[in-house]
Amino acid sequence: MTDKRKRVAVLISGRGSNMAALIAAAKEPAYPAEICGVVSDNTEAAGLAVAAANGVPCKVVARRDFADRQAHDSAIDAALAGFKAEFVALAGYMRLLSAPFVRKWQGRMINIHPALLPSFKGLDTHRRALDAGCRIHGCTVHFVTPEMDDGPIIAQAAVPVLTDDTEESLASRVLKLEHKLYPVALALLCDGKARMEGDCTVLAPAGLQERNAAQFVMAPEFASAERSLEDLARFTP
Ligand code: GRF
Repeated sequence: MTDKRKRVAVLISGRGSNMAALIAAAKEPAYPAEICGVVSDNTEAAGLAVAAANGVPCKVVARRDFADRQAHDSAIDAALAGFKAEFVALAGYMRLLSAPFVRKWQGRMINIHPALLPSFKGLDTHRRALDAGCRIHGCTVHFVTPEMDDGPIIAQAAVPVLTDDTEESLASRVLKLEHKLYPVALALLCDGKARMEGDCTVLAPAGLQERNAAQFVMAPEFASAERSLEDLARFTP
């Protein structure tokens, strides 16, 4: 654990189940981050009530109150400053962020996407994975860059696509994995074990190499705790 837990704000637009997974993980005293606030661009986001019930301060920055994307993002940035956020986790935040905002937070802002990037950027990922006949599907946590769903990958986790899968069954299997992967990836970031350098993610600081950095970084606790062959075969990084 680091000496000081990093302050992480979560941006949501809806259900907020990934946000809830991060809040739950951060309740563990050894977790390297605390969730210092939640910002929603949608007054109706169900996740707001979940955050409030967990005692996490929330701020709604509604799109309709701002003339354009940049003005909206400036207000979000002000909300993040109010929370004294050091890092930002997008969790189902459904609006593309403006380039100046992304540049300001680059290397300190991550997103979870319900597909194995770089496949299936954008929406309807589960439908498209089924239509493409994928045998494996999954989720990705990546650094946010100005282009949508395009930044350096921090961590991925995969599930098999079953022959009788529907969009819903596949989505729910992936979502379960998202809730495990996102806290792991955020911990890597806040512990300084994953950082963005140029167009790449660098895992583990140099000092860790002596202690077998690859193994250290690549076997997160939950993967080794669930020692089924399927999980071990399909969980990355
Ligand atoms: C998740 O599938 C996430 O990967 C994507 O949007 C969805 C948000 O779900 N970016 P929730 O709001 O976290 O429940």
